This record gives sequence, C-alpha cells and structure tokens, in this order.
Amino acid sequence: MEDMLLYEGKAKKLFKTDDPEQLRVEYLDQATALNGARKDIVQGKGMLNNQITALIFEQLAQKGMSSHFIKKISKHEQLVRPLAIIPLEVVIRNISAGSFAKRLAFEEGVELAQPILEFYFKEDSLDDPLINDDHVKILEIANEEEIKTIKDEAHKINQLLIEIFREIDLRLVDFKIEFGRCSDGTILLADEITPDTCRLWDFKTNQPLDKDVYRKNLGEIVPVYQEVLTRLEKRFN
Ligand code: TMP
Repeated sequence: MEDMLLYEGKAKKLFKTDDPEQLRVEYLDQATALNGARKDIVQGKGMLNNQITALIFEQLAQKGMSSHFIKKISKHEQLVRPLAIIPLEVVIRNISAGSFAKRLAFEEGVELAQPILEFYFKEDSLDDPLINDDHVKILEIANEEEIKTIKDEAHKINQLLIEIFREIDLRLVDFKIEFGRCSDGTILLADEITPDTCRLWDFKTNQPLDKDVYRKNLGEIVPVYQEVLTRLEKRFN
C-alpha cells in the first residue's frame, strides 16, 4: 500500500510510514523562488539536497546536535522523526547579503561584527513577514522559554555549520532553519540544511554555491549543488 501523503511543500513531500515514530521525506526535483511564484523542474536536485542534508545532519549529530533526521533510505528519501513544526523561519546571518542587505541598504559581503538572528513568520499568505520576539509570543508561536531555546540552539548550530562548511572551503554567509516540537514538548532541529536554505560562498573565489545561482539566473544549479555534495562526501564519507 502507498504511504499516506501528510504534506507537500515546495521542495519536499512528507509521508506516513508503518511506524508512527518515523515519517518519510521525499526530496523533489523542483526549484522555487519568490515564495513559489517562480517554479521550475530541476532534474536531479531532489537527490542532491537529500544527500547534502543527510550528510550535514549526520555531522551535526556527531558534534552533539540532534535533529529530526533518522537516516537516508534512498538517494532522494530519508526518514525523520514526526514533529509539530513551529511556524518560524529562523535565519542567522554572518555576512551581509540577500534581504538584509536590500532592506537596510547595507553593503553586501561584509562580515558582521556578530551573527544576527531573525525570525520570519512562516505564513505564505503574508509572504513570511519579519517578526520579533514579542510578535512570536503574542501570536502564540512560542513562549519565552522556547524562544530562548530556539535562539540558543540556532546560535550553536551556526557555529557548528561554520566549522563544517569551512572544512570544505565554503563560507557560511547565512541560512534558514526550522524547529519542531516532539510529543513531550522538546524542541528539535527539523526541515533541511541544503544550498536551498543556506548562502555558501567559495572561500577563494567568493562565488555562490547555493540557490542564489537560481534566484539571480547565474547558471545551472545542479552542477553547483553537485559540487557542494562532492566536497562534503570527500571530506566526511
Ligand atoms: P534572505 O536574505 O532572502 O532573507 O535569506 C536568508 C537566508 O535564508 C538565505 O540563506 C536563504 C534562506 N531562506 C530560506 O531558506 N527560505 C526562505 O523562504 C527565505 C526567505 C530565505
């Protein structure tokens, strides 16, 4: 029997399995930008992102940071723990770029004196607005203690990811992560960590090896994502 589809996102499908403690994620060959307004089939992208995020979640686990990731089960699928996703996009920025540079007319590519953490409310109908801690509380997205946990974990994840990417000659410019609640209320890192959700610049050339290649029409993304996977596999497999 086919597994039941629980959720279909822009880049992934989530299915039930026979085990209530495990969900199956299928990574799709789809690229989107502008909150889904621009959408393209990109053959091979799902497989690359599934493998990249699996390797990164494994490296984070080795460094003591747990996540919803259980294991990769095929080139384009993985098993994860079921969580109630908290509707927040947690962005951390180490170098100015993207919406931060645009919104504040801040020069791109400047190393920030300290990492900046931002919350965006994950709500497509509102175009995922930037919000602060007070909004998070008033909207009952998370309470004060949970906000502190999310921020502390996000900053730790940032430091671990900086190390991981530095080992493969990539600068972690910024990234977005999501968290979920386990049945006992514990907050756990969820979703994905891929070139779709991170800005990664080559250490030597500063060339982007991430979704900006698609957003800015700089070329094909499959060879770029393949390069990230190849570097990760060479270093960590
Ligand atoms: P931004 O500069 O567009 O705000 O993006 C900051 C980082 O967050 C960047 O690495 C891309 C990632 N991101 C997502 O993964 N999903 C999103 O919906 C947005 C807006 C950003």
